[in-house]
Amino acid sequence: MADLVTDDPQIAGIIEKETIRQEQGLNLIASENTVSPSVLAAQGSVLTNKYAEGYPSRRYYGGCEFVDQAEDLAIARAKKLFNAPYANVQPHSGSQANMAVYFALLNPGDRILAMDLSHGGHLTHGAPASFSGRLFEFAHYGLTRDTQTIDMDQVATLAETFKPRLIVAGASAYPRIINFQKFADIAASVHALFMVDMAHIAGLVAGGVHPTPVGYADVITSTTHKTLRGPRGGLILGSDDLAAKINSQIFPGIQGGPLMHVIAAKAVAFHEALQPGFARYQQQVVENASVLARGLMNRGYKLVSNGTDNHMVLMDLTDRGLSGKEAEERLGRAGITVNKNTVPNETKGTFVTSGIRIGVPLVTSRGMKPDAVQQIAELICDVLDDAAAVEQVAPAVKDLCRRYPLYSGENA
Ligand SMILES: Cc1ncc(COP(=O)(O)O)c(C=O)c1O
Repeated sequence: MADLVTDDPQIAGIIEKETIRQEQGLNLIASENTVSPSVLAAQGSVLTNKYAEGYPSRRYYGGCEFVDQAEDLAIARAKKLFNAPYANVQPHSGSQANMAVYFALLNPGDRILAMDLSHGGHLTHGAPASFSGRLFEFAHYGLTRDTQTIDMDQVATLAETFKPRLIVAGASAYPRIINFQKFADIAASVHALFMVDMAHIAGLVAGGVHPTPVGYADVITSTTHKTLRGPRGGLILGSDDLAAKINSQIFPGIQGGPLMHVIAAKAVAFHEALQPGFARYQQQVVENASVLARGLMNRGYKLVSNGTDNHMVLMDLTDRGLSGKEAEERLGRAGITVNKNTVPNETKGTFVTSGIRIGVPLVTSRGMKPDAVQQIAELICDVLDDAAAVEQVAPAVKDLCRRYPLYSGENA
């Protein structure tokens, strides 16, 4: 950083400001986390200088003997962590992991059944604005009206009538456990392939607090930077018989040179996730989320599905006269960062929305336990109840953040 300050004070200043923002704010974005200093060190290393198109021992460039070792380690650790026969650690992102799998298993125009975006699915699960919606034909399932959990009857009916070649389970905004066995049974009954996108819950799966899709899904995609607490990137797991097809769709199919510094950082994160402390961290994440859910509901707020089993809650503000956008902005003024989110049967559109998504992985990494999370629930409700409360809540947020520095808790 010392050199950067001299060489490029503008960027150094921006990094400094972002560091302070992260340090002094309560970050409750469900898809974010804070990586360890070791992950940061690997990602900021000279491995970024290296071109390594291809795969270990089969590269298109010389000088790959050390980056090969890093990628081999990342692959071995990912396989061990998730008990999977095959891993590809090269996807630059979760979206590219999904793209590579679609391209490996399907032809353009083929049918895919996935979760509706407004019910919690991801853009790459068939949104018209995404490559997925442009290149493949999607049908979407959603949540039941009463329990607001995945409507497995609808999944079965759509599987029968739509006859997809691929069924996708996995979500960006779904607070409940996903029953992979049921999805796999439905996929088998219509001879469809089954993919799980575990981007959000990969850390929970690794920590044993969410059932694993391994053994049920033909192929599994993930990000490495959410609950898994690694560098920003993607991951694909599966059986050995899909390895050649998927590898060739990542490179040369949709990517060029792999990001070797990020792959090394993924290896570090997988190593961390293999330590016993990681399962304890994930248990704490789930406990903290349920404390948050109870705290919000005790103050009269409505949550999608009435609670949570995982790392996030979805507040439905429909009957509060407050949009998700207004809630996000108001909480932001108090130093609490969340994101607006659609709720099932959304009426306000994706830029306004009727809900907010709140996650605890990052504050749990800062070492926060139920007492601190209970306080967070109260602070959120104070601000949502009354905009004037921002004045009192903002200093309380700063104080809480001072007590739990970004690099103390899990990341000490
Ligand atoms: C379920 C799911 N899949 C895929 C992605 C895409 O990941 P990325 O942003 O790395 O492309 C996300 C990211 O939010 C996600 O939630």
